Amino acid sequence: MARKTLVAGNWKLNGDLTLAAKMLPQITQSLENKQNTLCAIFPSFVHLDAMNAMAEGSGISIGAQNVSEHQSGAFTGEVSLAMLSSIGIKHLLLGHSERRTLFSESDELIFNKTCLAVEQDFNVTFCVGETLDERQQQQTTEVVAKQLQQLLSKPELLANITIAYEPVWAIGTGQTATPEQAQQVHHFIRAEVAKVSETIADTMHILYGGSVNAKNAQALFTQPDIDGGLVGGASLNIEEFLGVLACTN
Ligand code: PGA
Repeated sequence: MARKTLVAGNWKLNGDLTLAAKMLPQITQSLENKQNTLCAIFPSFVHLDAMNAMAEGSGISIGAQNVSEHQSGAFTGEVSLAMLSSIGIKHLLLGHSERRTLFSESDELIFNKTCLAVEQDFNVTFCVGETLDERQQQQTTEVVAKQLQQLLSKPELLANITIAYEPVWAIGTGQTATPEQAQQVHHFIRAEVAKVSETIADTMHILYGGSVNAKNAQALFTQPDIDGGLVGGASLNIEEFLGVLACTN
């Protein structure tokens, strides 16, 4: 089955409404003749509501970069699924390597958040990926399999999941995985999903992330198991992001 190509921008702790106001109309325009391309942006929490309103009718999905594992209560500084739902946000990025390493999020915590989110009808982009050390020790597939283990044990979640393979050594470093390296891991991930459901494996989007830009996107996106990209740095620059979108058909 032909899967559409999904280009998602992860703004991290960057971007503002001025950038959004310039970028969203240009993305909308570039999507006009692209029936097989999907686009999502993950801005900061404070810009979600306004950007969701700006993106209305454009086909661009606006999603959150994180969510609390708690539904409500005394959790200062947190944002709940219900709060996101109340402003029409139904997409989430979970398990990004920066959340795993800088904020000590465990596989367990990420899985719990994912379960709650899917129960509440969210779509989750679930990130996995190995460190440089793990790659050098030939542990890539082992690490990725472990990060996916709980998720794959609950097949009912999978229809709402996009997997993003993001080798940690390629994030923000300018060092992209080669298309072959990325394809190899994507193929492995799809085969793991196929053990649970071949139908879902056929339809599931598996995105590559890690220094994707307008120059390398074409070679990555034409790999059979790479269904688009999760783009960090290059999603903050309009020309560059439009260049990535131009690499889809
Ligand atoms: P990068 O970030 O494109 O800047 O490497 C990707 C990501 O962290 O999602």
